[in-house]
Amino acid sequence: MKGELLLLSSVIFLLQMACGCPEKCHCHSNSVDCSQQGLAEIPPNLPPQTLTLHLQDNQIHQLPAFAFRSVPQLRTLNLCNNSLSTLAPRAFHGLQHLEVLNLTQNSLHSLENRQFHSLSQLRELDLSFNNISHLPTSLGEHWENLTVFAVQQNQLQQLDRGILESMPSVKFLFLKDNLWKCNCHLLGLKLWLEKFIYKGGVMDSIICASPDTWKGKDLLKIPHELYQPCPFPSSELESSQVQQLASAHWAVPRTPESHSMEERDQTECELKPKPRPANLRHAVVTVIITGVACGILCLMMLVAAIYGCTYAAITAQYRGGPLAQTNEPEKTEGKELFDSSPA
Ligand SMILES: *[C@@H]1O[C@H](CO)[C@@H](O)[C@H](O)[C@H]1NC(C)=O
Ligand SMILES: *[C@@H]1O[C@H](CO)[C@@H](O)[C@H](O)[C@H]1NC(C)=O
Ligand SMILES: *[C@@H]1O[C@H](CO)[C@@H](O)[C@H](O)[C@H]1NC(C)=O
Ligand SMILES: *[C@@H]1O[C@H](CO)[C@@H](O)[C@H](O)[C@H]1NC(C)=O
Repeated sequence: MKGELLLLSSVIFLLQMACGCPEKCHCHSNSVDCSQQGLAEIPPNLPPQTLTLHLQDNQIHQLPAFAFRSVPQLRTLNLCNNSLSTLAPRAFHGLQHLEVLNLTQNSLHSLENRQFHSLSQLRELDLSFNNISHLPTSLGEHWENLTVFAVQQNQLQQLDRGILESMPSVKFLFLKDNLWKCNCHLLGLKLWLEKFIYKGGVMDSIICASPDTWKGKDLLKIPHELYQPCPFPSSELESSQVQQLASAHWAVPRTPESHSMEERDQTECELKPKPRPANLRHAVVTVIITGVACGILCLMMLVAAIYGCTYAAITAQYRGGPLAQTNEPEKTEGKELFDSSPA
């Protein structure tokens, strides 16, 4: 009886653990609502099967790395109207299924490069009403499914095209109320947006905050021709023009020159393997000549030796003397010659 009670209570405890709802939150079929509770941190013990998490209207001021490790199934995360000023680099790591991330009405002023890197399923990203002054080019990976991107009411002066190019499916862009600086740095964005609208994209407006010439004007309504040349891109343009000019300049006298160069290269390339057979032939000829010369020399020596031997034999025969010295014909030959000459 006692054992059964113990079992029952432990089962109830486990059930509570599994289906437990954090204090101050309301849980209802995979949706957890912890909004407007004065929370300063992410509540612990979130049910692991949570799909929607409402954390808006609290005072959460920081997100540590892997902050949502316990709810890996999350689809929607609302952190609107909190006190977030920084996000740890891997704060959203592990949320592979996250589709909606709402970070509006916080105090974010910067985002890490690759801040949203593991969120490949993201469909809506709202960063509006923060103090962001710069967005890194690589915020996320290739966001195939991102359709809504909002950065309204921040401190942005420009937006790198690369960010928009990482979201090929984007349909809604909310960019108004920033500090857009409408110089030629924004020209790339302007061109991208024109194409975006042409393809059916929906956006609010980019109203220039500077320079004074364009203050209050809509970026997309400023004709391209009226862009004042910026020193940096124009110098870039100039340098590229110079390069083009230089290459054109090169191209004209280069044709004969480069031809001769090529020819020389070719001849060099052809010549290089040539010396080997030439050398080889030369070597072969040398060997043959040396061989022949050696042969002749040997033959001559042989003839001389035979002649010497024969001569020695003949003289020995004529003398009829003891033949003990005939074993050394050359020596005896010389001696005999010496001996014989005065005699
Ligand atoms: C933001 O949250 C606070 C509570 O933290 C609440 O009093 C305030 O009304 C909220 N602001 C908005 C605009 O919802
Ligand atoms: C984020 O939350 C704000 C405030 O609730 C809302 O106006 C906005 O539409 C939400 N953004 C997205 C992308 O759902
Ligand atoms: C985009 O959404 C589709 C349909 O929901 C899904 O099958 C696909 O895996 C998603 N793509 C990525 C990169 O998550
Ligand atoms: C954010 O910007 C607003 C106005 O743009 C400013 O009033 C506020 O003090 C800034 N907050 C922080 C935390 O920088």
